[in-house]
Amino acid sequence: MPELLNEKEFLLFKHLLGKKIGVRLRDEGRESLSRKLGNRASQLGFSSYIAYYRFIKSEKGEKELAWLINEVTIDESHFFRADRQLFWLVGELLPALMEKRSPPRRLRIWCAGCARGQEPYTLSMMMLENIRLSRAWDLKILATDVDMDSLKAARRGTYPAEMLKSVPRPYFYRYFNPAASRRGENVYTVKNEVRQSILFRKLNLLEFPYPLKGPMDIIFCRNVMIYFQLSDKKRILEEFFRLLAPAGYLCLGISESLLGIDDRFQLVGQAIYQKKDKNF
Ligand SMILES: C[S@@+](CC[C@H](N)C(=O)[O-])C[C@H]1O[C@@H](n2cnc3c(N)ncnc32)[C@H](O)[C@@H]1O
Repeated sequence: MPELLNEKEFLLFKHLLGKKIGVRLRDEGRESLSRKLGNRASQLGFSSYIAYYRFIKSEKGEKELAWLINEVTIDESHFFRADRQLFWLVGELLPALMEKRSPPRRLRIWCAGCARGQEPYTLSMMMLENIRLSRAWDLKILATDVDMDSLKAARRGTYPAEMLKSVPRPYFYRYFNPAASRRGENVYTVKNEVRQSILFRKLNLLEFPYPLKGPMDIIFCRNVMIYFQLSDKKRILEEFFRLLAPAGYLCLGISESLLGIDDRFQLVGQAIYQKKDKNF
């Protein structure tokens, strides 16, 4: 197996990924993609990149395609991603749900596929900004991912300034501290008050049943299921349904939908679903 994908091979994979998930691989990514694919294709016994590409495109290659997609999207996340959706949920839907709740005043949120922590930290900051939520309620955010490297980075909670550009300035000044960096970079770390409600754990969404009790008030699973086949999505939704509290919310990535997949959730906002419940 040659070390580097030639230009034509690189373009084939680049177009395939662009078509499937809209990822735009940059030309500088050729070397790193070559490393990943080269190792993988050799392990699977392919003698050329083209043979591996043909396999991925074939019916039997569905799982391999999912692997490839995960490889190239694994870290794709940012602070305050789809922030309008989040502000609507935290500012409007959640208070309405809480009003109907009787004590104990507990709120349980699960971020499934939390990447490097950007999503749970964003939520925690938003909750802290909402004085009623942060003071009077017992809030816990469970943040899970299958990728241990991502979880390690999430627990560390330290980010280069570049990654914090999408954090609105008032949040940035209130919830981040400058930190020491070995490479002399400009890095910042999230404050303890943001971390303290979050528990990071490894959990593979494709291993059933999940070792969780619930009930959860909100489950975030944004931009994760898009890579999964329909039967897996259905099983995941079974678990989400089981774990959600009556009238709890399921929040997906803004380009995702449950249409034709599961009708036990009702669309109530931009990719926000509410568990249907006769008694609520
Ligand atoms: C594109 S990121 C989305 C991160 C975040 N939810 C967001 O929307 O910004 C997808 C995340 O899902 C995780 N993931 C992929 N397959 C998974 C699985 N089987 N179980 C749990 N997490 C998975 C990846 O490791 C990655 O962190």
